[in-house]
Amino acid sequence: MTNILVLHGPNLNLLGEREPEVYGTMTLAQLNAKLSSYARKKSAQLRARQSNHEGELIDILHAHRKWACGVVFNPGAYSHYSYALRDAVASICVPTIEVHLSDIKKREPFRRVSVIEPACVGQLYGKGIDSYFKAIDLLVKKRRTAKRA
Ligand code: DQA
Repeated sequence: MTNILVLHGPNLNLLGEREPEVYGTMTLAQLNAKLSSYARKKSAQLRARQSNHEGELIDILHAHRKWACGVVFNPGAYSHYSYALRDAVASICVPTIEVHLSDIKKREPFRRVSVIEPACVGQLYGKGIDSYFKAIDLLVKKRRTAKRA
């Protein structure tokens, strides 16, 4: 079984009501439900967590390091400055894909850089919720390839 942790960072609990013109109208609960059923179809098991707190996000990553075969991580604004989260991703040795709903390369200059990205195996942005689906695809594929090797 491929176990995938989907981790949402700060302010993503307000999806659906938060700047819908940027982030869409789907709530976090709806997004998580869609991701879970998508994962099930791919024979993967998904756990979704969200926190507005840097330390708690680190604790969640640590707590899932033995369970997860892959992590889909939207670190929100922490992407742009949290070296602690970057180190947490590097520490757990679980392939992690950074995702963003919006196109961070085409927004304010401070969003264009992610300090977490170098610790990840990939980064997907600007495709709305499809960024998450694509990340699940990539992690499932990676797991299959690893099993075959
Ligand atoms: C975001 C982009 C970040 O810059 C922003 O701070 C967020 C959401 C996204 O999914 O597009 O909170 O991670």
